[in-house]
Amino acid sequence: MSKLKIAVLASGRGSNFKAIAEAVKKGEVDAEISILITDKQDAGAIQIAKSYNILVQFIDFTKYSNKEDGDLEIKKVLDSKGVGLVVLAGYMRILRSRALLDAYKFKIINIHPSLLPAFKGSTHAQNDAFDYGCKVSGLTIHFVTADVDGGQIIYQEAVDISDCKTGSEAAVKILKKEHEAYKKIIDSFSKGKYEIKGNRAEFVRN
Ligand code: GRF
Repeated sequence: MSKLKIAVLASGRGSNFKAIAEAVKKGEVDAEISILITDKQDAGAIQIAKSYNILVQFIDFTKYSNKEDGDLEIKKVLDSKGVGLVVLAGYMRILRSRALLDAYKFKIINIHPSLLPAFKGSTHAQNDAFDYGCKVSGLTIHFVTADVDGGQIIYQEAVDISDCKTGSEAAVKILKKEHEAYKKIIDSFSKGKYEIKGNRAEFVRN
């Protein structure tokens, strides 16, 4: 059987992307990364892609007055590569196109550095949790829908941040766990898929 084809979408430094690429290289994740798609020409993730010989596609959203057109460009790339799983790894743009979200329903996942629904939609959720005085925060891997950070939860892990002195320290502690968790969940997609049962998705092994 052919391997699951993954597309990673990233806008930033790409440490999660690197953890996934390394796991694929080591055979810990039984899939192939077909492409890195980025909306930022200076994303650190681009250099990581080059070091793993992964194809990069830059989508220039400044070209589009209607940002959904940029999403449709992403959809074209995904379709052309036969992508079976879209992994958001620090992709800082909201996916708005209905056509993209519908075509890849239960095939787009994101990692968020909090225990959702706490600090939903925040781009600095680890700091928010720290400032709030949370003793435990964590990470959530979830499906991507039109509701930002609101799609069905696939996996959560709690992280004790009670010993952290700053929000940045908490972020580092959570990030280490993100790297471990994301590759395991991605590998589970390579061994099965989610099917809609009622109004929920359920994991079914291949
Ligand atoms: C991570 O904290 C992830 O949870 C969030 O964005 C950050 C991306 O970091 N969605 P990196 O670019 O993978 O290092």
